[in-house]
Amino acid sequence: MKTLKIIVVLGVLGGLGALGVLYSGWYPMGADVPHNRLTYWALETLRERSIARATRNIKVPPLDEPQMLLAGGADYNDMCTSCHLKPGKTESEFTLGLYPQPPNLALSAEAHGHAHGDADASDAAASAARQFWIIKHGIKASGMAAFGKTHDDARIWAMVAFLQKLPTLNEVQYQILTARSPTDLGHEDHEAAEAAPQAENAHAH
Ligand code: HEC
Repeated sequence: MKTLKIIVVLGVLGGLGALGVLYSGWYPMGADVPHNRLTYWALETLRERSIARATRNIKVPPLDEPQMLLAGGADYNDMCTSCHLKPGKTESEFTLGLYPQPPNLALSAEAHGHAHGDADASDAAASAARQFWIIKHGIKASGMAAFGKTHDDARIWAMVAFLQKLPTLNEVQYQILTARSPTDLGHEDHEAAEAAPQAENAHAH
């Protein structure tokens, strides 16, 4: 009984202490000061657990159709490179100034530190579902917007398809795949679709 009392008193004091810290204004909110470890861990756990739960039932469509890559590439180039970069571009005002920092999606997941487990088929599907969800819904209190408010699922899956290829592209291949075709998603751009495979032999880097 006595121990229980002590635990309750400590719990109340802890709660008041936490509230005191919140109200004191002591916590630095500027994007140029990183979170302390505890806050970082809490926010990362909150984000990853929430996304894992939200993506459980997402069915990943086939992502290897050439017209998806072309539509997704053009959209990526228009809307995402200021934060997520592209082959030949290694930093921007946003990658230097945003916190959390947007990962460089032109690098592999291992390279930008967002790998999730081994790269077998189910992980590839899980990673595609995760990317789809993040692009559609965004991430609170980060620079990542919810593109689902302005883009339908097909367009978002096309960007996911492009993201799977992006880390393997050199600058020339990137330019060919991201050139905006006069028609949009759903209309094949034959010229670009035929040009893309040739770029593989264009040159290495
Ligand atoms: C204004 C900057 C900004 C723009 C523009 C932006 N993002 Fe992001 N994005 C972020 C930030 C910041 C994060 C990391 C959020 C975090 O860690 O909580 C992120 C995270 C992501 C992730 C998760 C990466 C991972 O492996 O964890 C994906 C996928 C993504 N963005 C895709 C896109 C796509 C596709 C576009 C364009 C349609 C886009 N983003 C546009 C800032 C941006």
